[in-house]
This record gives sequence, structure tokens and C-alpha cells, in this order.
Amino acid sequence: MSANKRTTWNSQLGFLLAAIGSAVGLGNIWRFSYMTFEYGGGAFLIPYFVALIVAGIPLIVLEYGLGHRELGASPLSFSRVNPHWEWAGWWMPLAAMFGIMLYYSVIIGYCVIYFFLSINVTWGADTQSFFMETLLHTSGSPLNFGGLVLPVTSATLFVWTICWIICFKEINRGIEIACKIFIPILFVLTLLLVGWGFTLPGAVKGIKAYLIPDWNTLKNYKVWTAAFGQIFFTLSLGFGIMITYASYLPRKTNIFSNALLTSIINCLFSFIAGFAVFSVIGFMSVQKGLPIKEVIKSGPQLAFVIYPEAINHLPFMKNIFGLMFFAVLFIAGISSGISLIEALACAMGDKFGWGRKKVVSYICLIGFLGSLIFTTRAGIYLIDIIDHFVTNYALILGGIIECFVVGWLLKAKVLRSHINKCSLNSSFKVGFWWDICIRFITPLVLIFIIAQTLIGELKITYGGYSLDAVIVFGADWLIILVILSVAFTFYPWKPELLKREHLPEEDKWLL
Ligand code: PHE
Repeated sequence: MSANKRTTWNSQLGFLLAAIGSAVGLGNIWRFSYMTFEYGGGAFLIPYFVALIVAGIPLIVLEYGLGHRELGASPLSFSRVNPHWEWAGWWMPLAAMFGIMLYYSVIIGYCVIYFFLSINVTWGADTQSFFMETLLHTSGSPLNFGGLVLPVTSATLFVWTICWIICFKEINRGIEIACKIFIPILFVLTLLLVGWGFTLPGAVKGIKAYLIPDWNTLKNYKVWTAAFGQIFFTLSLGFGIMITYASYLPRKTNIFSNALLTSIINCLFSFIAGFAVFSVIGFMSVQKGLPIKEVIKSGPQLAFVIYPEAINHLPFMKNIFGLMFFAVLFIAGISSGISLIEALACAMGDKFGWGRKKVVSYICLIGFLGSLIFTTRAGIYLIDIIDHFVTNYALILGGIIECFVVGWLLKAKVLRSHINKCSLNSSFKVGFWWDICIRFITPLVLIFIIAQTLIGELKITYGGYSLDAVIVFGADWLIILVILSVAFTFYPWKPELLKREHLPEEDKWLL
């Protein structure tokens, strides 16, 4: 797509809601609460807040600024800064698509299934064996695929179809409208769940477990790496999504205040949703007479085993509670999923000049076929392995590359002056502190974090899986991504696309 024909959001609010839609996802609801509980309750908020300040906010400003200045998804934006770094621009949306969306769509599929099961609360008393055996028919090992699980495959197809319908239209008629509808519903439903949670006996016990700090955990490096991983995941950073969304902004816009608003609203949402999760966990622990530690589980199990069990114990309107909870997860998931598709669709549209409808259709088709591996009987284990590697390595690596490309190749002060020049509101300017963060502090902290995780990993294989499973699955996936990134890079750009003179007239003053 030529730069001057680029669509823009209908309104700043539309952009903000879409960005919040991407950020607020499944991760805010169960990933954040569980991490907070596991990594020291209220004490976890300290590394989380540090990660937000040191990496989250500087990088979201970077992504918004870069996309807005270069008017392209990450490959075009990187190429305009320095053509030798185009491959890194591909790595990000490809990793987003093949690293996250393929399994993310399957988890949203679980939400669809549980939404319908909620109508008559038909998951039975033993929610653990219902989820793992009756529904997923788990094979017991990540290397034993054992065929497709039909209900999960159909639900995943449904999810991809919804995403296709939304992404098929131009950004301001598809994603923008969907997020304008989804996000208010999401916020209202979440607040209702929080209010409802507070009324349950035992809620206070759960909330205490969520928030009472255990300061000792701060000495453990894992708590810090987890906080950084979570900030990247929750703000959808390191995958070029925010670069893409910002490339559709009008020329005059408040990048810094939008970046602050997105991060603050997203993190507040996580914090508030934590009350809904933990009041229910507290309620269940009182009902069962067991300590919280024994009733809580991590990852998908929290939403699909523990929550259904808690719903079983509710005195009345179980089905309404279930419908609301799974609707919240579904909406949060879809609004993030479409941003993952958009990052790649826009990148391919920029490069190959294909129409949006064609690109989105191909991506959704290939995406669905790729998801099938996660709908097999080994799916749940593969999800766990890939989620670990993507959040702890791929996202953080994306962040380090961005710091280098912008901080050193483009020069942080060039982007900062662009951000400040196009700002509508003079009181919200990015200061020199940002240059220091992007050039030194953020990348160094991220390198340290990734090195720590790697060293820890070499000692014990992740999650106790066999080394074969982790290597076969992780390495194959990585090799495919590298081949694709390099292949796309070899395809030549239309030369005029890379020239800055090609940018629309009204942009020249911003150069
Ligand atoms: N931010 C989303 C969440 O918290 C997930 C996501 C990660 C979406 C990366 C896009 C890219 O669930």
C-alpha cells in the first residue's frame, strides 16, 4: 500500500480502544493474578512496576513513535531506518503469528466451549478430569499427538472465522468498530464480576492471598524475569503490533499520552481483574476447607479447572456467573487476537502490495491450519512449552532489537523529536530520560533478564518436560521462523517505498 493511501483510524479514541484491546487479553485475567500469587503477592507489584517503568513505557512510546514516523508495519519501518535490519522487522510479526496466535486461538476456543457449557453448568463435579480427559483427551506427553480433538478443533475454527470477519475490512471499519463495541462490554462485565466476587464468603481470604506481600521472594531472580516477561506479554510489546497500529494514526497525535494511557489502563485492568479471580478462589478454599495454595493452579488450569469448580460451589445463578466469566475471556482474547493478525497482514500488504482481503484470508487460513497442532491430544503441553519460550525469549529479544534499531541506528533523539513535534498537547513531551532508557538502560536490563533465564534453563529443562520435546518442538519452530523471515527479506521492495521523499506532502515538516 502506498504511504499516501494509508487508511487512518476514524478517531483517536478508536486507536486507543484498539490498542487497549490488544493489550488487555487472556494474560491480564489469569496470567497476572496467578503470577502475583506465586511470586510474592503484593511484593510482586514492585518488580512489575519496575518493569513497567524501565521497559514497558519506554518501549510502547518507541513502538508508537516508530510506526507513526515510518508509516508501516515493522518490516517497512525497520527497512526505512536501515534496510539491513528488515529481517528483524519480519521476525516480530511472524513470531507473533506463529508463536502466539496459533495457540492463543485454541485457548479462546476453550473459552467458547466453556461459555456454552456454562448454560447448564455441564462440566460436572470433577472439573480437572473433565478438562484434561473428557474434553481434551490429553495424551500425557507433548510428543504423542494422538489425533485431533474435534470439539476443540471446531471451536478454534469458529475463533479464526470471527477474527477473519473482523480483520477482513479496512482497519477503521473492522478492528476499530469491533473494539469500540468489545472494550466497553469487557470493562462492564469485569466490574460486575469483581462486585459479585466481593459478596462471596471467603472473598477477603482470597484477596489477602493475592495482595499480602512476601518480601523474601524479591531476592529470587525468577520473580524479576517473570515480571519483565509479563509486562511484555501484557502490553503486546516486541511483536510489532503497536508499530502497526500507530502507523494508521493521523499526523497530529499525542503519542506520549496515548502510550501512558494504554499502559496504565492495561495494568489497572489486570490489577482489578485480580480481585475477581482471587475473591472466587478464596470462596472456594473456604467451601472446601483447604488452604488457598492447594486450590489454585497455574496457566489454563486456573480458568478451565479451578474457576468451573468454584462456579459449582456458588449458591445461585451459577450459569450467569459462568457465562459472564467466559464472555470476558472470549472478548479479551479476540481483541488481542485480531491485533496479532493485523501485525502480519499489514506487513505483508506493505511488502507485496496485495489487497487486504487477500492477505487476511491467507493468513487466517494458514493460521487455522497451523493451530491444528494445538488441537491434538498433545495440545495443552505444547501450549505450555511454546508460551514459556515466546514470552521469555522471543518477546524480550524483539524488545532488545527495537532498542538497538531505534536507539543506535535511527538515534533515539530523532524519534523523540518526531514524537514531540507531532504532539497536539504541548504539556506531554518525551524528555531526554527516554533516550537514556532506549539506548542503555532498557536493552541492558533486557539482556540481563534473558541471560538469567537461559542460565536457569540450562540447569533444569522447562516444566520438567523431556529435553527431546523441548528441543524438537522449540528448535523446529525457531528454524521455520528464521527461514520465513529471511525469505521475506529477499523479496525486493518497490524502490519508491523506501525513500523518505515518498512520504505524503503533509509529512515533510515532520522529517
Ligand atoms: N496482551 C495480550 C494479553 O495480555 C496478549 C498478547 C501478547 C497479544 C502479544 C498480542 C501480542 O493477553
